[in-house]
Amino acid sequence: MAGTGNEQARKTAEGLAYQTGFGNEHSSEAVPGALPVGRNSPQRAPLGLYAEQLSGSAFTEPRGHNLRSWLYRIRPSAAHPPFVRAERHALRSAPFTDCTPDPNRLRWNPLPEPAGPADFLDGLWTLGGNGDATQRTGMAVHLYYANTSMERRVFGNADGELLIVPERGGLLLRTELGLLHAAPGEVALIPRGVRFRVELLDAASDGQSPTARGYVCENYGRPFQLPDLGPIGANGLANARDFRAPVAAYEDVEGPVEVVNKFCGHLWTATYDHSPLDVVAWHGNHVPYVYDLRRFNVIGSISYDHPDPSIFTVLTSPSDTPGLAGVDFVAFAPRWLVGEDTFRPPYFHRNVMTEYMGLIEGAYDAKAEGFVPGGGSLHNMMSAHGPDRETFDRASAAELRPQKIDDGLAFMFETRWPLTLTEQARDAGHLQRGYDDVWQGLQRHFRL
Ligand SMILES: [Fe+2]
Repeated sequence: MAGTGNEQARKTAEGLAYQTGFGNEHSSEAVPGALPVGRNSPQRAPLGLYAEQLSGSAFTEPRGHNLRSWLYRIRPSAAHPPFVRAERHALRSAPFTDCTPDPNRLRWNPLPEPAGPADFLDGLWTLGGNGDATQRTGMAVHLYYANTSMERRVFGNADGELLIVPERGGLLLRTELGLLHAAPGEVALIPRGVRFRVELLDAASDGQSPTARGYVCENYGRPFQLPDLGPIGANGLANARDFRAPVAAYEDVEGPVEVVNKFCGHLWTATYDHSPLDVVAWHGNHVPYVYDLRRFNVIGSISYDHPDPSIFTVLTSPSDTPGLAGVDFVAFAPRWLVGEDTFRPPYFHRNVMTEYMGLIEGAYDAKAEGFVPGGGSLHNMMSAHGPDRETFDRASAAELRPQKIDDGLAFMFETRWPLTLTEQARDAGHLQRGYDDVWQGLQRHFRL
């Protein structure tokens, strides 16, 4: 039943206004005059609002890394009852210690449909991860499958930021800082600590009920930033102007609202007597955003060889070691292949980094079959992988005319540490058996 709430959400999503840019000092007020001018915390904030700072970095971090927003809200966040532990369903957090890290190449079919009603939070299913949420290191890979909107329910994650990658079904994200629309092909980022609610926009293929499916990279480490461009120059890859932040939009809602707080891997819940999405104005740079992956300016070889996939980095979470990311978000967007005397699909390799790949639509040029939208593959640290036999045979014999790769949108979460599975991922019915077979039958061609 695609109810009026669903249609209303879709209408709202279509009409949204945004501010553009990455890392900007944005500002916005839903009511004229709500934003103080010339100071952050006046003796009395305008319109009787409470002033509150939300810090995404230590106060003292260098200016280039410093993240905070000032929120002007109907009630301060401090006005809440105690949190109590809540059911976390299939959501898990680092450290991941239940399974032995597995060097095998693994691949999953899409997450099965939930058995009953499940909103975005209920529908989060953790595949695995690394690091430690309490140490603010590492990352987790989650999938979600939701069939109902969050209602009178708000989620916030103290453990890290959430990069949401919709694969099926658009999302309306109502955040403390305003509303965002994220459709398949776009990604949305919810910063650490920012509260939000997810509403579903699209009916399932049967046309009956809304549904949404996708991936989430939970980044416990340094917040995602745009990669440096080096010799590429001042433009290219994901351009800063294509990132969209919300404008202020608030709910003035009395009555019970459940607020779920993820803290050190566990969910805690409290019932507020009002909606915490009550920010009337704000300014700052700790903001949610959306980005359309089709805007990615793909840069590649125009002579020979296949550049390393780092050339497709959309966002990177740096570590203390230059060039070594806690996690990179990499997109394989439509592009031309023109390399001469070149094996054009991704090459065979073994990598000290760990690669989790997902598919948003279409097909991926290194895998002829078995890697489907909503599915995923894991090539852990130093596991050997590359094109399957069919792809190798085809690409080795292909006539090398300019070729457009435009039938797929894949992505990768690439992380510096090996990824350990959850038990549910290891034992999942949708884990493919025999993934190794795609590399069997690669013939010996050596001859003297
Ligand atoms: Fe790889």
